Amino acid sequence: MRLQPATLQCALAAIAYAFVFHTPLVHAAADESSPDIHGAIIGEGAGFPVALDSFNGLELQDVDAEDESNGLDLVKRYPADVTSMANNNFQPGSIEVGKIQWWYFPKNYVHGKKAGPRKGFPPFATRSLDDQMDEEARNELWKRADDNNPVPVYISLTTCQAPSTNKTDAGPFDQLEVYVSLSDKLEKPGPEHEGNPLQNMTRASGGYWSREVQAEGDVFIAVVAPNSTEYSGEYEYQIGVSIDAYFHAVDEKDPFLYFIDADMHAALLVTNNLTETEPDSATYQEWMDLVPPYTMFAPGIHDSALAGLERSFCALERYAPQVSKTEVGMTSRGLGNKPKQQFYITGLNRSSEYNGILAMVGNSTTSGNNIVGGGGKLWKPMNFTTKADDNCAVLFNLTFCSEVAYAVPSNPDLSVEALRSIYDDYAAQMYQNFSYSLQQIQCNTTPESMYSLAVGCSNCSTAYKQWLCSVSIPRCADFQSQEWYLQVRNAGQDFINGSSLPANDPLRQSVATNKSRNPLIDTEIKPGPYKEILPCSDICYSLARGCPAALGFGCPTGKWLNASYGWRDPNGDITCSYLGAAYYLNSSPRLQLWLGVYMLSGMWMIFWACL
Ligand SMILES: *[C@@H]1O[C@H](CO)[C@@H](O)[C@H](O)[C@H]1NC(C)=O
Ligand SMILES: *[C@@H]1O[C@H](CO)[C@@H](O)[C@H](O)[C@H]1NC(C)=O
Ligand SMILES: *[C@@H]1O[C@H](CO)[C@@H](O)[C@H](O)[C@H]1NC(C)=O
Ligand SMILES: *[C@@H]1O[C@H](CO)[C@@H](O)[C@H](O)[C@H]1NC(C)=O
Ligand SMILES: *[C@@H]1O[C@H](CO)[C@@H](O)[C@H](O)[C@H]1NC(C)=O
Ligand SMILES: *[C@@H]1O[C@H](CO)[C@@H](O)[C@H](O)[C@H]1NC(C)=O
Ligand SMILES: *[C@@H]1O[C@H](CO)[C@@H](O)[C@H](O)[C@H]1NC(C)=O
Ligand SMILES: *[C@@H]1O[C@H](CO)[C@@H](O)[C@H](O)[C@H]1NC(C)=O
Ligand SMILES: *[C@@H]1O[C@H](CO)[C@@H](O)[C@H](O)[C@H]1NC(C)=O
Ligand SMILES: *[C@@H]1O[C@H](CO)[C@@H](O)[C@H](O)[C@H]1NC(C)=O
Ligand SMILES: *[C@@H]1O[C@H](CO)[C@@H](O)[C@H](O)[C@H]1NC(C)=O
Ligand SMILES: *[C@@H]1O[C@H](CO)[C@@H](O)[C@H](O)[C@H]1NC(C)=O
Repeated sequence: MRLQPATLQCALAAIAYAFVFHTPLVHAAADESSPDIHGAIIGEGAGFPVALDSFNGLELQDVDAEDESNGLDLVKRYPADVTSMANNNFQPGSIEVGKIQWWYFPKNYVHGKKAGPRKGFPPFATRSLDDQMDEEARNELWKRADDNNPVPVYISLTTCQAPSTNKTDAGPFDQLEVYVSLSDKLEKPGPEHEGNPLQNMTRASGGYWSREVQAEGDVFIAVVAPNSTEYSGEYEYQIGVSIDAYFHAVDEKDPFLYFIDADMHAALLVTNNLTETEPDSATYQEWMDLVPPYTMFAPGIHDSALAGLERSFCALERYAPQVSKTEVGMTSRGLGNKPKQQFYITGLNRSSEYNGILAMVGNSTTSGNNIVGGGGKLWKPMNFTTKADDNCAVLFNLTFCSEVAYAVPSNPDLSVEALRSIYDDYAAQMYQNFSYSLQQIQCNTTPESMYSLAVGCSNCSTAYKQWLCSVSIPRCADFQSQEWYLQVRNAGQDFINGSSLPANDPLRQSVATNKSRNPLIDTEIKPGPYKEILPCSDICYSLARGCPAALGFGCPTGKWLNASYGWRDPNGDITCSYLGAAYYLNSSPRLQLWLGVYMLSGMWMIFWACL
């Protein structure tokens, strides 16, 4: 049931399954991982329809024989409407507006056996010997549980379904409130004990609530659905308690996800670097060989079904849109060439803004009950927008220009494979011709006769390839986009819809705007008029600097420079195209940002002075 994606497609199928059937994946997985649960027992007199199973306190599993009698004692002592929970086991609950439900996590679980060391992911950094010893010491810790010391207990709650309203102008629904008491003197905390120091209340936010408490004995929890004049019906939620780690987790600070580019119906995103190790290290290879561990949700930014639930895994599983297909894979493309996970999402609406929310189902290999972190994890949402026009298509996975990954001028009549080979074959052929020229230059020779001591022919080849791929495969933007850094191309051709710009349009008078830079685009692809995000000027300067003068490379000046190359934005926006670009890679604080602007204008000064 849980994504066991032997292949990319398999992962997708599982995601699609969750979307299509509205099945809470975690719950379903739990059922399967606990095959011994036959027939749910419905709590009597509890007044709410919660399905209780083997961990309801009537039958305690995984508890040493000596603890068992304690467990039964506990059950007898507690009020009938307080339900027991086990370690790393979530309970589904549904609660009517104005009602209250109680749960408890018994003392024998608080001091129970921890899950022990977990395999986890390959490390981010190369481990030093010290780190390894630290890790071993940490792994020893769980064995030395001490009954007399407080133990950290992690409690988490996610709201899967909000109550409903008939009012069109209703405000946001009230988030669930959770009361925690650590004292046997207050077994049923709640609003009626307002001001009692034995209890603490905090509210969920975005459909998620979590809290770490230091417990010595039982932990008592009350879930309260506040009274409302606007909302009625039920909340559905999941609650999980663990002595190992949060059963449901949320990273509030970092989206860990970058937007690369989109076309009308698809988007390409990547995670941050998953390791900083070098390509020849074992860790690097382990990451590249890993079954892609992450998944993601892409709800519309104005999706009302998710309002107030955007931090809840189970709500996203129910309401995230039916993204028809998401291809995932590991890639080392992009800045630093470090391993990342890539997401290619198709089936999106045109000109629509989406939230991208990185997620992990369970611990990435297994989910559900009895798994540490089995409720999954979400990261902070980021956003991206799809394009309006049909003549830009996201292209990646090229053989020669392997670092290209962005929207390129296209035509809806062309298949992705055709588009890929038109661009890639052309670039590969150009490069071949360049190599013949480079062979004429003395490269593999004694330092004295080499063209430069500072740079060699490999530097020149690298710079040429960078330049060639970014110039011959332009980065495409909507014709109607009015961003200052965009350059109109191919204005002389008809739009895809058959209309055209008037013959006297100034855009058709200048060669720079009437045609594409790469003539192949106008003849073979026929995208119609489009806008180009110009390649960064530093790519041209690297080429001119890095190659022998005999090859005659030079960068244009004056208005030709501005019509051919763009300038990097210190703010992280993509105002010029470079290989490996992703939006907002460097969301730097304001101070650094201004520094960047000054440095950039400094560069402008230098460039203009040279011209
Ligand atoms: C909601 O209002 C009813 C009636 O006034 C009251 O009995 C109940 O305790 C209230 N519930 C909460 C959660 O405050
Ligand atoms: C997830 O949990 C299962 C069961 O505890 C464990 O076998 C697996 O190694 C865990 N996966 C990761 C990535 O830690
Ligand atoms: C409630 O919060 C206060 C202050 O944060 C803390 O001192 C107290 O121990 C908490 N009580 C419980 C029962 O968690
Ligand atoms: C909404 O309308 C239904 C049916 O008319 C009614 O049963 C329900 O109580 C109403 N809910 C609210 C919040 O007014
Ligand atoms: C996408 O289009 C469908 C069908 O028109 C619509 O139901 C859905 O809300 C749209 N999603 C977004 C995010 O705009
Ligand atoms: C990844 O690592 C490279 C090299 O260390 C760095 O330049 C880059 O900013 C990092 N992050 C991303 C998202 O590429
Ligand atoms: C994300 O949202 C912010 C604020 O609404 C907006 O300024 C930004 O352009 C959006 N980013 C993308 C990639 O759509
Ligand atoms: C990339 O291309 C190779 C062959 O060219 C193919 O086997 C692979 O599946 C492609 N990957 C993606 C993510 O499209
Ligand atoms: C490469 O050189 C050959 C021979 O000079 C020429 O026919 C061909 O058009 C060149 N290829 C490109 C892409 O310019
Ligand atoms: C040239 O390439 C070598 C090795 O490929 C590299 O060490 C050196 O830094 C490069 N020089 C420049 C100026 O980029
Ligand atoms: C602009 O391009 C069109 C189509 O390629 C061509 O017919 C026209 O002559 C060009 N105009 C100029 C001024 O070059
Ligand atoms: C054709 O497409 C272009 C670019 O999207 C648009 O500006 C123009 O209005 C469209 N013309 C017609 C007749 O739909």
